[in-house]
Amino acid sequence: MGPEAAVDVTIVGGCGHVGLPLGIAFADRGLTVRLYDLNADACDTVNRAELPFAEPGAAEILSEVIAAGRLSATTDVSSVARADHVVVVIGTPIDEHHNPDLNAVQAAIEEIADNLVDGQLLVLRSTVYPGVTAMVEQLVARKGLEVDVAFCPERIAEGRAMTELYELPQIVASRSPRAIERATKLFRNLTHEVLLLEPEEAELAKLFTNTWRYIKFATANQLFMMANDFGLDYERIRTALAFNYPRAADLPGAGFAAGPCLFKDTMQLAAFNNNNFQLGQASVMVNEGLPLYVVARLEQQFDLSDMTVGILGMSFKAGSDDIRSSLSYKLKRILRFKARAVLCTDPYVTVDPDLVPLEAVLAPPSTGGADLLVIATPHPEYVAFTTDVPVVDIWNLRDGGVRV
Ligand SMILES: NC(=O)c1ccc[n+]([C@@H]2O[C@H](COP(=O)([O-])OP(=O)(O)OC[C@H]3O[C@@H](n4cnc5c(N)ncnc54)[C@H](O)[C@@H]3O)[C@@H](O)[C@H]2O)c1
Repeated sequence: MGPEAAVDVTIVGGCGHVGLPLGIAFADRGLTVRLYDLNADACDTVNRAELPFAEPGAAEILSEVIAAGRLSATTDVSSVARADHVVVVIGTPIDEHHNPDLNAVQAAIEEIADNLVDGQLLVLRSTVYPGVTAMVEQLVARKGLEVDVAFCPERIAEGRAMTELYELPQIVASRSPRAIERATKLFRNLTHEVLLLEPEEAELAKLFTNTWRYIKFATANQLFMMANDFGLDYERIRTALAFNYPRAADLPGAGFAAGPCLFKDTMQLAAFNNNNFQLGQASVMVNEGLPLYVVARLEQQFDLSDMTVGILGMSFKAGSDDIRSSLSYKLKRILRFKARAVLCTDPYVTVDPDLVPLEAVLAPPSTGGADLLVIATPHPEYVAFTTDVPVVDIWNLRDGGVRV
């Protein structure tokens, strides 16, 4: 596919964790796709038919669609002009004070606006602060563009994109019947179930989805700490209460609840509601407080100042190489202050030069290995290794871990 060729879809932010699987899936279904991204390294990687990050099932299809000439990546913003559909999936992070950048998507669209052309469908797919779709509609109208605008949120979980993109129902929202028709047709390439909402309803639907999940994890973590402080095993209680009792089947296990979406989307919702979101804010305190709780409890059992602690797993969830907002790094910061030394390992993460191989962490303490191990991420690799030192396992991954 030459750089000038017209395509069915251009994805803005197309080399990211959401944009790339989406582009691969559209191309897999026969559409021609261009990924526009500011990240030149990621574009080069994709054009070599390699993934810039791990996403199970994506590599094989990427090779096929690149070879077939149906997908390519570029840093050239003019590529936006040569597509029937423009899908925007740039990141929407919060700042160091947990404030969402209300103008992130708007600013990205300002950047591409000179390249939007009449007759296009503009699909917003980032998880946005409520009201952003309306803001974009106004921006497009102010520029005198005849461009249809729709908001179609992404609801996949990282690591499951290549199945969930084809399985999850798609929410489509727009004030324009033509945009609804076009967006519905576009996403029917992936899934047959399409649900229609008003744009503001859809913006809240996406934020509610992530916040609900985050609150559930916080509930589990609070109950875990409560049982643990009382000298009882939360997982034993959870297993019993959920057994053949469907109303409680969705109570999660305890563990670090983090990553690039759940926390920041809870904060987006809090900001939207004038910082009045006690349940969400309490969930932040509980989930973000868990590493501190674990270390405080360990201090009651061990003299950490005289120990090397090994942290097993640095990504924010099992089987992933993504360290964004991972609580393993918060645990590391606390332990670097409390322990004699900290060793960190992860079989998936490639971007952190301070990581050491698992064997180095599991080496005898007399030869530099850890005196105490904490499973921070429940990677399957940590179910079955053998060691003589205590293993802290709040995830209940193994038999016989030490209680915190
Ligand atoms: N990661 C997930 O599992 C997930 C799931 C559902 C929804 N979301 C939402 O999707 C959005 C994207 O998340 P992500 O995890 O893919 O982020 P990401 O950081 O992995 O990807 C964003 C991409 O956009 C590019 N980019 C940023 N600004 C740009 C611009 N102005 N022009 C062109 N490219 C630009 C970046 O270089 C990056 O490659 C966020 O709103 C997120 O909340 C993420």
